[in-house]
Amino acid sequence: MNLSQHARLSVAPMMDWTDRHCRYLHRLMSRNVLLYTEMVTAPALVRGGALHLLEYSPQEHPVALQLGGSDPEELAQAAVLGAKAGYDEINLNCGCPSDRVQSGTFGAVLMKDPGRVAECVAEMTRAVQVEVTVKCRIGVDDQDPAEVLPEFLSRVGAAGCQRFTIHARKAWLQGLSPKENRDIPPLDYDLVQRMRSMFGGLHLSVNGGITSLDQAERFLEAGLDGVMVGRAAYHDPTAILAQADRRIYGEGSDSDPVEVARQMLPYIAAHLEAGGKLAQVTRHMLGLFAGRPGARHWRRILSEGAHRPGAGPELVEQALDPVMAAA
Ligand SMILES: Cc1cc2nc3c(=O)[nH]c(=O)nc-3n(C[C@H](O)[C@H](O)[C@H](O)COP(=O)(O)O)c2cc1C
Repeated sequence: MNLSQHARLSVAPMMDWTDRHCRYLHRLMSRNVLLYTEMVTAPALVRGGALHLLEYSPQEHPVALQLGGSDPEELAQAAVLGAKAGYDEINLNCGCPSDRVQSGTFGAVLMKDPGRVAECVAEMTRAVQVEVTVKCRIGVDDQDPAEVLPEFLSRVGAAGCQRFTIHARKAWLQGLSPKENRDIPPLDYDLVQRMRSMFGGLHLSVNGGITSLDQAERFLEAGLDGVMVGRAAYHDPTAILAQADRRIYGEGSDSDPVEVARQMLPYIAAHLEAGGKLAQVTRHMLGLFAGRPGARHWRRILSEGAHRPGAGPELVEQALDPVMAAA
C-alpha cells in the first residue's frame, strides 16, 4: 500500500496529544491509518538543535512529521532532518492559528501568502525524496474561501505538493482562541468537495468535525481521497480506529481495545525502564473504552493511580478488571 492509500484515513497532528506514545497506541489499533506528529517548528530543529523532538518508535510507520515555519531554506533543512530520521512524509502546517505561531509568521497566517508557501514547498521538495504535503484552512479572516482556496491549491500544487489536507473552516486570527478556532468558524465541506472536482490531479483530504467512521466513509464514497480525524480519534480511538483496517482499507480484522490495552504493557514497561513516567503513556489510553461498559472505572483508576509513586503496568491490568466484569 502506498502513502496516498494510507492517507485515506489519518489521525490529525495535535500538539501535546499526538506524541509518540499516543501514536504507538493508535498504531496498535490500526495497521494502516496514517499518523501525524505534533507540529515541530523548523527553528527548533535547525537553530535549536532539538533533535529529540524527532524521536519515535519504528512501529509507528507510516508516520508523517509536521513542520511549522515560513522560511524556505530553514524548512528545507528541517525537512532533511525529518527525512534522515526516517519519516514517511513531511507536512507543512498552514492551519494553526495560535498566537505563538502567528508571531513567527507560520501556521494559518500563511493562507494569506500562497507565494511564500509555494516557495517553502519548492525548497522542501528539492531537499528531500519523501513526499511533502500541506495542511491548510479554507481561508483566514475576511478572505473569500471560494477565491483564495483554489488559488492556494493551484500555486502550492504547482510548486510540488500533490497532497493536501483541508481543515474545512476558516481561522480567525484575531479575537478567537485556538480552541474556539476549531469550533466556531462554520464548516464548509461543500467547498472542499468542489476543490475535489476542480483539481483532478491532487490528493485531497477533508478535516474538521468528523466524529465517526460512518461519516468518514461517506466522504470517501463522495469522492474525497482522504479523511483526517483529530479530536474524535483522540477521545474515542476505538470508534475511529478499531474497524478502520477492514472498513477503510479492506484488509485485516478489527482490533479489540482490551487486547490493545494489554499490548501496551511491554511498551509501558520499557518506557518506565528508560526513566519515563506511567502517566505519560496512560493519559492517552483514557478514552480507550469511551462510551462502553466499565469506561468510568477504567478512566478513574488510570487517572488517579498513574501519578502514584511506584505505579507500573499492573495499574493498567487493574483498570481492565471493571471493563472485563462489565462485558
Ligand atoms: C489539542 C489540539 C492540538 C492541535 N495541534 C495542531 C498542530 O500541531 N498542527 C495542526 O496542523 N493542527 C493542530 N490541531 C488541529 C487539528 O489537527 C485538526 O485540524 C482540528 O482539531 C480539526 O479536526 P477535528 O475536528 O477532527 O478535531 C490541533 C487540535 C487540537 C484539538
